[in-house]
Amino acid sequence: MDLLVIGGTGFLSSAVVAAACEAGHHVTIVTRGRASRPVPAGVEALTANRSDRDALGAALGGRSWDVVIDTVLYRPEDAESAIHLFRGRAGRYVFISTDFVYGGEPRRFPLDEDAPRHALGAYGRDKAACEDRFFAAWGEARFPAVVLRPPHILGAGGLLGTGSLEGRDPWLLWRLRRAQPLVLLDGGALLIQPVHRDDIASACLAVAASEKTPGRAYNIAGPDAVTTRAYYESAAAAAGAPPPEVLALPSSAYVAAFPDRAPFAQNRAYSLRRLADDTGFAPQVRLEAALSEVVAALDACPAPDGPEPEPHTPLRDLLRRHAAEAVAALAE
Ligand SMILES: NC(=O)c1ccc[n+]([C@@H]2O[C@H](COP(=O)([O-])OP(=O)(O)OC[C@H]3O[C@@H](n4cnc5c(N)ncnc54)[C@H](OP(=O)(O)O)[C@@H]3O)[C@@H](O)[C@H]2O)c1
Repeated sequence: MDLLVIGGTGFLSSAVVAAACEAGHHVTIVTRGRASRPVPAGVEALTANRSDRDALGAALGGRSWDVVIDTVLYRPEDAESAIHLFRGRAGRYVFISTDFVYGGEPRRFPLDEDAPRHALGAYGRDKAACEDRFFAAWGEARFPAVVLRPPHILGAGGLLGTGSLEGRDPWLLWRLRRAQPLVLLDGGALLIQPVHRDDIASACLAVAASEKTPGRAYNIAGPDAVTTRAYYESAAAAAGAPPPEVLALPSSAYVAAFPDRAPFAQNRAYSLRRLADDTGFAPQVRLEAALSEVVAALDACPAPDGPEPEPHTPLRDLLRRHAAEAVAALAE
C-alpha cells in the first residue's frame, strides 16, 4: 500500500514509519525537515508545514494514498485543511488524538469510547474539536477518518514519569537510584495504562486494514492498567533501584494549584474491547518491558545537562508532617 505519515521523524511517528516499512508498505512522510532523527532508507520525504494549507497542498501534489496517518494534528483548522486536501485522495485517514479528550466526571472502568468528552484542558478540547471535524466529515461525505486515543506513551527516547510533579522528569532515573522520596497524587492511587509506541504503530495499521473503523474512535492503551504507584515501583525495579518512598499529595490540591494539569489527576484506565472487536488487534508490549526499554535508552545517554532541580523539599516536609498529624488526630 501507499502510506503517508504526517510527521515521521519524531518519537511516535518514527515508530509508525518503522512499522509501516516493516509491513512492506511504500512510505512517504511530510515534515518541516527540522527533526534530528534520520529518514529511513526507502522512505520518501516531503517538506511542508502541515499548518500551511497551500504549502502542504503543493508538497502533496495531485497524489493519492491508500492510508494517511496524521501524527501531528492539534488544531481544528488543520483538521479542516486535512479534510479539504485529502477528500477523495485517502483510502483511510488515521488521526492520533489523545485520552485527554475525556472529561473529569465520575468515570466507569475501564472507560470506553462512548464516555463524555468534556476535556479538562485546552489540548484535549482542541483534539476533541479535531475529532468532531472528522466525525462530521464521515457523516456528511464519508471522509474515511479513524480516531485513535492513546494515553501516556512509552518507548526508547522518552522520559520516565507520568502525571503529577514527577511526570516526564529527566532526573527521575537518578532520583530513584538515590532512593529519594516521590510526591505522588493521592499516594499513587490513580490508575494509568501506558502504551508502547510500537503498539500504537501496529494499531494504526490495524485500523487502516479494517472495514469497520471509518467514522469511529478507538482507545489504544497498553495491556497493563496499574496504579501510578505500581508504575513508579516498576520504573524503580527497571532502574535497579529500591521501591520508592511515596508521599501523598491530594489531587484536589494539585488541581487547585495547576488547573491546566487536571487531566493528569484522573484515573486513566481504558477499554480496548472496541479495538479488538473491530480489528482483532490487542496491544502486546507489557509495562515492565516498556519501562526497561526507556531505562536502557536513558542509561545509554549522558545525565541531563545543568544542576538537578530542587526536588520539592519543603513540600515533602509538609506532607510528612501532615501525615504524622493525621495519624495523631485519628488516634485521639
Ligand atoms: N507523548 C504522549 O504521551 C502522548 C499521549 C497521547 C497522545 N499523544 C499524541 O501523539 C502524537 C505524537 O506526538 P510526538 O510528540 O511523539 O510527536 P511525533 O509524532 O513524533 O511528531 C513529531 C514529527 O512531526 C513533525 N512535525 C511537527 N510539526 C510539524 C508541522 N507543523 N508540519 C509538519 N511536520 C511537523 C516533526 O518533524 P519536523 O519538526 O521536522 O517538522 C516530527 O517528524 C501527537 O499527536 C500527540 O498529541 C502523545
